[in-house]
Amino acid sequence: MKRVLSGIQPSGKITLGNYIGALKNFVTLQDDYTCNFMVVDLHAITVPQDPADLREQSEAVAALFVAAGIDPNKANVYMQSHVRQHAQLGWLLTTLTSMGELERMTQFKDKAAGKESVGAGLFVYPALMAADILIYNADLVPVGEDQKQHLELTRDLAGRFNHRFGDYFTIPEPYIPKVGARIMSLDDASKKMSKSNPNAGSAIYLLDSPDEIRKKISRATTDSGREVKFEPATKPEVSNLITIYSQCSGMSVAEVEQRYEGQMYGPFKKDLAEVVVGALEPIQQRYRDIRESGEIRSILRQGAERASEMAEKTLRDVQQLMGFLPE
Ligand code: TYM
Repeated sequence: MKRVLSGIQPSGKITLGNYIGALKNFVTLQDDYTCNFMVVDLHAITVPQDPADLREQSEAVAALFVAAGIDPNKANVYMQSHVRQHAQLGWLLTTLTSMGELERMTQFKDKAAGKESVGAGLFVYPALMAADILIYNADLVPVGEDQKQHLELTRDLAGRFNHRFGDYFTIPEPYIPKVGARIMSLDDASKKMSKSNPNAGSAIYLLDSPDEIRKKISRATTDSGREVKFEPATKPEVSNLITIYSQCSGMSVAEVEQRYEGQMYGPFKKDLAEVVVGALEPIQQRYRDIRESGEIRSILRQGAERASEMAEKTLRDVQQLMGFLPE
């Protein structure tokens, strides 16, 4: 069976953008691939984290994976730090990565912009991400659009390794959804919806209450026009809301446009809020059940155990190919 790997950071609350761009697709892929889905705590600490928050968010995100529909008997769900081989391969790949390549990463440039001091971890982060993927020889990596550049670097590093040390790594393909790969902020459609945006009204979080969701959607910016039409270049705000509607209802973009033909933004937004509430309610219910049951720790343990087996084999092969003495 072909292999899938992806991860989500436990920094801040996970957003509807994370869900539509990534998590929802994890669930779809689990039936046809050998899947590894991790909560990437090693990546989260590339910016400062409060230890208690990190612990809580790690467990919350893992529980959300399962609540969203990942079946731990089909896919491995685990913490990145519990599979130690990620960090080990990360170091090996860092030595194959050039400073220039890392300097070109737009996510690094965005996160480092205006900072007086930037952590070295933030800089080398993409080499660790490459290790996450290559350690399982993943064929497919479901991600949102913002991770595309990191995927390209991963492909380059795999090719470089294969060229220098022998054909070993699979060159992974990104799996980026056609609709919903970049959900935008509710208050500013030029920015992606993001966990790190300090304005809580800019993002819908998966654990927002129905009333919070209704309030955020009713306040979402639109334009001075009147048509519910999908035209990202000229109507970015409304197009973003249509995308969310489509992704949370299962209707196509064209079907959403048709349904609201001749209607104003008010009724469209009202319905959208109910569509989002309806999509998130069952996830929230399952989330509460999973947290109460306390089963997440054993799910993570089992996931890490299975993932480690695959990862250890790769690490040994890679060390041998690179010329390390066997233990
Ligand atoms: P992170 O935690 O920022 O985001 C998790 C996933 O959500 C997607 N995403 C979005 N998709 C659509 N619209 C948005 N507004 C939006 N915001 C986020 C991201 O593209 C991502 O797929 N570096 C990664 C985590 C990572 C990883 C990996 C991913 C570490 N190792 C290996 C894949 C494979 C990150 O920071 O994602």
